[in-house]
Amino acid sequence: MAGWALLPLRAFLGITFCFAGLQKLANPAFFEASNPISIQAQLHGALRRSPVHALLSPLVHVAVPLGVLIALAELAIGAGTLLGLWARVAAVGGAVLSFFLFLTVSFHSSPYYTGADIVFLFAWLPLVLTGSGGVLSLDAYLAERTRRAAGAEPSAVVPIPFAVVRRVCGAFDAGRCTMRHGAPCEPAPCPFLAARPPRPPRLAERELDRSTFTTKGVAAAAAGLAALVTGGAAAAAGRLAGGSSTAPSTPGLSPRRTGSPSPTTPTSRPPGGGSGPPAGAKPPGTALGPATAVPVGGAASFNDPATGDPSLVVQPQSGTFLAFDAVCPHAGCTVEWDPAAKFFVCPCHGSEFNGRTGAVETGPAATGLAPIAIAEGPDGQLYAK
Ligand code: FES
Repeated sequence: MAGWALLPLRAFLGITFCFAGLQKLANPAFFEASNPISIQAQLHGALRRSPVHALLSPLVHVAVPLGVLIALAELAIGAGTLLGLWARVAAVGGAVLSFFLFLTVSFHSSPYYTGADIVFLFAWLPLVLTGSGGVLSLDAYLAERTRRAAGAEPSAVVPIPFAVVRRVCGAFDAGRCTMRHGAPCEPAPCPFLAARPPRPPRLAERELDRSTFTTKGVAAAAAGLAALVTGGAAAAAGRLAGGSSTAPSTPGLSPRRTGSPSPTTPTSRPPGGGSGPPAGAKPPGTALGPATAVPVGGAASFNDPATGDPSLVVQPQSGTFLAFDAVCPHAGCTVEWDPAAKFFVCPCHGSEFNGRTGAVETGPAATGLAPIAIAEGPDGQLYAK
């Protein structure tokens, strides 16, 4: 029954990993360096917090190929789990990937159970132990087909309760059979004990294993090709829907798609208000890009020149600019700007932060977003210290 009992878990993990892989491939923002949800931003965040940060440094230089690899791995793991093809290998892959994400993304989740990756890691373990359990499984189908093609006996062992055997065949009692009214025991009438037809010649199990391995390899290659085509189609559809995106050089400003649809040039500055410098004075710090890239009521992202962290600048009213480190203090996900609520919202566990102060409004984060000093120069550029 193990295969049937684990079927809901298998379906959930398979669908979730397929969805996660396709979503990454279809979302151009995942590969856009200046976007807070990009693989680059997540790697930079992990470099600061992960217990294995030393191992991650070289990966920063290959962030895009790594992102593609992770997405394809998720797709392959999900497809293998759903189809029951190399199911145990897929489960091991899922556990390894979840462990990697736990170490890099959600290691500091507090309490620990709010991080999804540790839950995924343990959810994979039953499938690592049982595989597909032979239920709705290409593994089982291909193995059986190979045995039949080779003329071998079916591999299934069917347990029959002893009570059934006794009921059908009678009980032995001092050499006599109760079913035969005390006549000497004779197995012939009993379907379980009667002599079997001659067995087909026994094939070497190793030979069968090799044939099964080859058949499953061909099936895996076909499924992999289908997954690649599906992933490619998802990536193309994502780019068509979201437009092509070229990563702007950091620390340049990149308007968030969730912001106000049309950037507005600040034309008037509140007297004595806003964050602009005294007239004519160029503020200290690194130029991020034109202030017009930040829509009024919206946000733009940049990488903090001081720390390299993904960061967000908002313009709550014309001419007022506020900037915050976008790394969520809870477990290091990158927060996003919600233009309707005027809050920063963390996509991982739902923490919300005040849009003007960065203070926590809703946990589980315990502390607020770190502010970044920012000012608009007379040249219309934003400068971060
Ligand atoms: S990482 Fe958990 S709420 Fe942000």
